[in-house]
Amino acid sequence: MKIIDNINDLKNEVKSLIGPIGLVPTMGALHDGHKSLIDRAVKENDNVIVSIFVNPIQFGANEDLDKYPRTLEQDVKLCQNAGVKIVFAPKVDEMYGTDKNNLTLICPPYSAVDKLCGKSRVGHFDGVCSVVAKLFNLSKAQKAYFGQKDAQQLFIIQKMVKDLDFDIEIVPCPIVREADNLALSSRNRYLNEEERKLALNISKSLFEAKKMYEMGIKETNKIIDNSLNLMQGLEVEYIEFVDKNTFEFQQNLNDNTIMLIAAKTPISNTRLIDNINLCTNF
Ligand code: PAF
Repeated sequence: MKIIDNINDLKNEVKSLIGPIGLVPTMGALHDGHKSLIDRAVKENDNVIVSIFVNPIQFGANEDLDKYPRTLEQDVKLCQNAGVKIVFAPKVDEMYGTDKNNLTLICPPYSAVDKLCGKSRVGHFDGVCSVVAKLFNLSKAQKAYFGQKDAQQLFIIQKMVKDLDFDIEIVPCPIVREADNLALSSRNRYLNEEERKLALNISKSLFEAKKMYEMGIKETNKIIDNSLNLMQGLEVEYIEFVDKNTFEFQQNLNDNTIMLIAAKTPISNTRLIDNINLCTNF
């Protein structure tokens, strides 16, 4: 496995690869959720590139860029053991030069970002799309793997690929959960024991909502009331329902509905997101 930190070396290395290339874009602090993407990519491609880059342009001014976990040594070991060909771990200046305020950005449409995470994280998806587009260009991958936990991110990237005719297949991968259903996230490591217990009520709300839907409840207000009740102690940012194909809000639930939650924990102020497909669990 090669560990590469500059763009020219990556380009040269990519030129020498034979066979299909799969890309797994990450910000590092790899956990079993990332591992599931990497394992799938290794199964489906002769060459897998994992990028590890804490992308500053997708963080807002009051967000956790500085404290975001950086665990490169461990991440590299995980990649090595999983059969990855290249870890691309550039420094910020290598990706963006020194004039980060004058970059050409890819900005997804307002209709896709004026809701859910995009509403509170203004500019976040511009940063995500811009770095992902750059990684698509550099890796020359035929497939790229993204987790369904970041459902809005996945939708926006799929839209970008379609709108801009990127020649790459986006492979959505299921949410990976702890045994007690907490969705894996690099940010879970910020949680103390008490907060982790509270955080469990996010996935509990989603799974109860799914049961309610299966029992025939189609009104969002009953499900929202139940969720708010369960999530007392957390600062709930949103509980929303969207059509999985269009990401339009829904009032009447149906088999295409995804329910999404974002909430912050009270002590470390950790922002957690999770979602569930009310019909088929994914
Ligand atoms: O999901 C993430 O970890 C990031 O948003 C991504 C896709 C690697 C872009 O920085």
